[in-house]
Amino acid sequence: MQLLDGKLISSQIKSEIKAEVEKWIADGGKKPHLAAVLVGQDGASETYVASKIRSCEEIGFTSTLLRFGPEISEESLLDAVESLNNDPDVDGFIVQLPLPKHISENTIMEAVNPAKDVDGFHPVNVGKMCKGLPSYISATPFGIIEMLIRAGIETSGKHCVVIGRSQIVGLPMSILMQRNEYPGNCTVTITHSKTHNLKEICQTADILIAALGRPEFVTADYVKEGAVVIDVGISRVADASKKSGFAIKGDVNFNDVAPKTSYITPVPGGVGLMTICGLLTNTFKAAKKEIY
Ligand code: GUN
Repeated sequence: MQLLDGKLISSQIKSEIKAEVEKWIADGGKKPHLAAVLVGQDGASETYVASKIRSCEEIGFTSTLLRFGPEISEESLLDAVESLNNDPDVDGFIVQLPLPKHISENTIMEAVNPAKDVDGFHPVNVGKMCKGLPSYISATPFGIIEMLIRAGIETSGKHCVVIGRSQIVGLPMSILMQRNEYPGNCTVTITHSKTHNLKEICQTADILIAALGRPEFVTADYVKEGAVVIDVGISRVADASKKSGFAIKGDVNFNDVAPKTSYITPVPGGVGLMTICGLLTNTFKAAKKEIY
């Protein structure tokens, strides 16, 4: 079993982007600028956004954080999105999800100018990705693809099973894994809460991507000997022994599953750390006007 080390790979990618940004700026380019919109006080969202802002500073980007209370109306949030769309200094921005229930996430995502949609959530970017056109690939799928590439994992002709059909992970991941390019060319099965015989289907996976959001759901009996297992879960589970009062758990029971695998991502220290690299890569592309 080999560990796909998100800490190591993400720090390598950040160093690479940092060096490219230095060169871009030395050649007269503008410092890339990412803005993040945070609504409410969700603990996990606070942590993720803080980490995105910190990473921007580390690699030489400008960053701006816009905070709004949980009671903000959809209309006011749309106004904030429009201001960012029209701000020539902001190259790209994200609206951290989830949003409060009274706000439609789809309405907000569709209001973002696709050229500044560095999360890759806008239907135009999703459509471009489906057609294999240059687009912003959203953060988690980017992170997984990059891990497969850097570990040199063979994907062509393999059976890839994705557990979970979310718009931000399961669905785009399944599209990317079937593309006619590396890493891709897989036969993909996308599964979800209504799938019959889930365990039996997972047992046939050469590459198993668990993105269902249920802590330690995948146990050794779901996994074929020698499979590649990618764990996208990041659940907070109460744990009195931790200072924070919670532990972070993946969707895979790591200790049970790891001995059967050829490669596996740990949680924490796996896919989660890689996602920020996707966002930084997209923001740099936006600053360079590489896609739009
Ligand atoms: N919430 C969980 N993951 C993400 C992400 O990649 N982007 C945004 N905007 N919100 C999220």
